[in-house]
Amino acid sequence: MKKICSLFLIGLLAIQCKNIQPPKSVVHKAQGLITENAMVVSARVEASEIGSQILLKGGNAFDAMIATELALAVAYPFAGNIGGGGFMVYRLADGTTGALDYREKAPLAASKNMFLDEIGDIINGKSTLGGMAVGVPGTIDGLFKVHEKFGTLPFSSLIQPAIDLANKGVVVTKKQAERIAIYKEYFYKVNGTKILLDSVWKEGDTIKYVQLAKTLQRINEHGRDGFYKGETAEMLVNTVQKLGGIITLEDLEKYQAKWRKPVEFTYKDLKIISMSPPSSGGICMAQIFNAIEPFNLSELGHNSEKTIQLLTEAERRAYADRSHYLGDPDFIKIPIETLISKSYVKKRMESFSWDNATLSSTITHGKIAGFESNETTHYSIVDKFGNAISATTTLNGAYGSKVFVSEGGFFLNNEMDDFSSKPGTPNMFGLIGAEANSIEPGKRMLSSMTPTIVEKNNKFYMSVGSPGGSTIITSVLQTILNVYEFDLGMQEAVNAPRFHHQWLPDVITMEPIGFDSTLIKNLQQKGYIIKQENTTIIGKVDAILRLPNGKLEGGADYRGDDTAAGF
Ligand code: GLY
Repeated sequence: MKKICSLFLIGLLAIQCKNIQPPKSVVHKAQGLITENAMVVSARVEASEIGSQILLKGGNAFDAMIATELALAVAYPFAGNIGGGGFMVYRLADGTTGALDYREKAPLAASKNMFLDEIGDIINGKSTLGGMAVGVPGTIDGLFKVHEKFGTLPFSSLIQPAIDLANKGVVVTKKQAERIAIYKEYFYKVNGTKILLDSVWKEGDTIKYVQLAKTLQRINEHGRDGFYKGETAEMLVNTVQKLGGIITLEDLEKYQAKWRKPVEFTYKDLKIISMSPPSSGGICMAQIFNAIEPFNLSELGHNSEKTIQLLTEAERRAYADRSHYLGDPDFIKIPIETLISKSYVKKRMESFSWDNATLSSTITHGKIAGFESNETTHYSIVDKFGNAISATTTLNGAYGSKVFVSEGGFFLNNEMDDFSSKPGTPNMFGLIGAEANSIEPGKRMLSSMTPTIVEKNNKFYMSVGSPGGSTIITSVLQTILNVYEFDLGMQEAVNAPRFHHQWLPDVITMEPIGFDSTLIKNLQQKGYIIKQENTTIIGKVDAILRLPNGKLEGGADYRGDDTAAGF
């Protein structure tokens, strides 16, 4: 593996960073960055280094989270953001756990049928592109909530590296140049004017984010109000309203991130701590883990026919429940305890057979009494004090709604598409929603983001998460299983080929490499529909594992420019 960044010495400690090349043998013998004390793994080397520097200066994982998230907003505008939202799950050194929901909200003027035409059909593109697609952003409020509760260094010292990076500029990578080329046409179409990224940016060019630096400076000077009130808020509202959107200054002023209780469950001798609603990640993952727990997965084999079959059947049932029961807990009642109980899932798996696929058309949500009725980005951080965080943040689609607040230098999300605009009609991830996730003013849209921390023997074991819309949950799940059941190292587990099933559409999506034709043929003979040609990658996992010798191993996904840094 090639080192792409310098080793730089600060005092007696060295921060090392490493970028993973696509592995020749796909999985085996890949090893991620190993460090003694602390680590950050994120989508860009600049952000991982900035976070790691904060840890080296004595900051804790929460200080590093703030610095990393803001650096991603500069270095990774594809998904890193101040115009979106996210979730963070934490585990303190003493074992205390918690979660922060800084997910976007529907504007106060939003209404149930806002994306439907007069005959009740979905208006193509309205929830994904342009002003109406934008939810009220939560990232900046979330970071201030984190700082208030856990920060140890001054906020200004955590935001300054992102301001400096924005002024200095960020070098375009090959993958970034390719992404910009793909989405360029939408930038003009949506904004009706040329925006910063709407040029021919080549690998090696440097993009300076001068307007964004000024916005970050306003946040530095005025705190939360530097985004949610005054100049920045006015720029945001003017841009959105000019493009037909409905966000107001009142929406911004009223936005509040919320501390939540994470979803916690056991799998064999692991304790898994993951995101609660409005994310579906923790509940869905608990259901899948509960469904497969009675089986000996390591004996079935990594990515073997039987393992794929078992996981697919568990996923099919979990995603059917997701669609029916899950939404914003501040608006709907969710039977969480039942959904994640081992007995409920056992019943759901009664129709599973090794002989044939259970068709999704024969599966609906489970019956519970009283309840009849990519882009994103993830980073994991561990500090030298033993605290760990797992955070996933998003604009939803690539560059969100493509709406760019030019004066402020940032993109806005298209998170409104994560609502169920019309029950039974799929969103951009093919996910079908129901009443529980319908649009209401001030409601948060259902998410698949699954920032997760795993404990083994009451000690921190792993911090893991991924972008990838509906495939996030299955990517996180497979990564945990790859380490725990199939004995792969952290980097190997991240590199391993992934597959995904989400109830509807009734297909197993497989990554283009790593699954052989006999395996696929055997599954097809049992009635599974496989989609492999022209599929893209599934998830982009960034994770940290505590090794038996106490050191940390990073898993930075080769599918992106992801990088581990630490000391
Ligand atoms: N916007 C992707 C998700 O939250 O699942």
